[in-house]
Amino acid sequence: MPVACSRSTVFATIQRQVMATTIPPLRSRRVAVIGAGAAGLVAARELRREGHRVVVFERGDQVGGTWVYTSEVESDPIGIDPNRAVVHSSLYQSLRTNLPREVMGFRDYPFVRREVKGRDSRRFPGHKEVLMYLQDFTSAFEIAELVRFESEVVFAGLAESGKWRVRSITKGGVTVDEIYDAVVVCNGHYTQPHIADIPGITAWPGKQMHGHNYRTPDPFRDQVVVLIGNAASAVDISRDIATVAKEVHIAARSVEDNKLGKLPGHDNMWLHSMIDSALEDGRVVFRGGNAVCADVILHCTGYKYNFPFLQTDGTITVEDNCVGPLYKHVFPPELAPWLSFVGLPWKVVPFPLCEHQSKWIAGILSNRIALPSKEEMVEDVKAFYSSLEAFGIPKRYAHNIGPVQWDYNDWIADQCGFPVIEEWRKEMYKAASKNRTIRPESYRDEWEDHELILQAQEDFSNTASI
Ligand SMILES: Cc1cc2nc3c(=O)[nH]c(=O)nc-3n(C[C@H](O)[C@H](O)[C@H](O)COP(=O)(O)OP(=O)(O)OC[C@H]3O[C@@H](n4cnc5c(N)ncnc54)[C@H](O)[C@@H]3O)c2cc1C
Ligand SMILES: *[C@@H]1O[C@H](CO)[C@@H](O)[C@H](O)[C@H]1NC(C)=O
Repeated sequence: MPVACSRSTVFATIQRQVMATTIPPLRSRRVAVIGAGAAGLVAARELRREGHRVVVFERGDQVGGTWVYTSEVESDPIGIDPNRAVVHSSLYQSLRTNLPREVMGFRDYPFVRREVKGRDSRRFPGHKEVLMYLQDFTSAFEIAELVRFESEVVFAGLAESGKWRVRSITKGGVTVDEIYDAVVVCNGHYTQPHIADIPGITAWPGKQMHGHNYRTPDPFRDQVVVLIGNAASAVDISRDIATVAKEVHIAARSVEDNKLGKLPGHDNMWLHSMIDSALEDGRVVFRGGNAVCADVILHCTGYKYNFPFLQTDGTITVEDNCVGPLYKHVFPPELAPWLSFVGLPWKVVPFPLCEHQSKWIAGILSNRIALPSKEEMVEDVKAFYSSLEAFGIPKRYAHNIGPVQWDYNDWIADQCGFPVIEEWRKEMYKAASKNRTIRPESYRDEWEDHELILQAQEDFSNTASI
């Protein structure tokens, strides 16, 4: 960029060089946060705490994102129709957390039980308790005043100035166009269904649905249901439906062809290998040859990352459900630190992870924490992709950081000068995950590790500084 060589620019250049060798001055930025779920709320708190000026855009009329349950479902039950009105949340009525509340909560604002009327004090509470916890968090840190409700971001892209243009539309149809220094994307990734490919499905006469639109078991009364998937929500939903359905047949990739059979402890549930095909006569055929005549196929097959508002001219893409290139799942090297993502990793404990990422982003934007050079970040991402390839891991698992989530959190915490993850949290997570696998029906109500709870409470009293 040609610069007129006036006295003041020369001075500015010298000053910048001097500063570069010392510490750059702290800066307050104008930051747009997209979404007011757990990720957007903690991002807003951390950004403001760091001195930034924050606006949170929220398409809905309240905070909480996923945790705002609605009985509403989308017009297209498998979510393919691009013109359908989107319902954000995928919660079903019976949902209880699959993590102990102590493990799940933010580090700076523990998810402690509240022995108050109207609150759910169970260790694995129902979904409403999580929403109330997020509402408590919102009022404790006075975040609502930063949120523009019923404002959907329809465009976020680079403006000519090098800053970010954010266009939003209010529910009343008013378009607002603004310029920000930085954009933090917190739009969640459990809304856009991923559907299993089933040979012959177009001629199959039954009904199909994705778990995104599952709310209650009643519509499945006396039906024969084939449910695809075996992740946490698939396990829950199959048990939910089995209370009223005639038969529930679970098709799971992880099951070998020769290990079919009735699920122990259930009269009307069977485990199968993956679906091979669906036939015109209503049968669903599994690999290995078994077949059932089914009324419904329920896809509990996960979700796709989706950023319909983001315009980066191809700098960031979603390929095979991998958002990239991203340095540590947060910053696109080319646009860092002015664009960032909070909450992309999965098979993790999301709240504390989002908290760490948000602290890091806030500190980098203010110049308190340094990012490596663009070249170093590009190299790091390349090395990450190569390691996936070397281990034969498809790109769609790039953000599944479950096995290394604690190291990941600790690495970020270290960048931020924040203490590493508490040991009890890791232990309790491990114990709960093991219990969930062994006894999915009872792990939420049968536990007895009082020592761990005590320790958790002790740690809470040390960290609960608001
Ligand atoms: C069925 C299910 C069960 C789960 N169970 C657990 C559990 O037990 N424990 C746990 O810790 N986690 C659980 N999770 C994970 C859960 O997603 C996270 O806890 C957390 O809600 C993620 O928060 P988020 O802010 O990233 O996304 P979300 O909560 O999805 O929030 C995103 C927000 O962005 C808004 N938004 C999106 N696009 C726009 C736009 N263009 N403009 C403006 N606003 C926009 C949405 O309206 C929404 O409010 C579960 C998820 C699902 C789907
Ligand atoms: C896991 O199950 C064991 C055995 O029933 C129980 O003692 C323990 O408390 C459970 N742990 C958690 C975290 O739920």
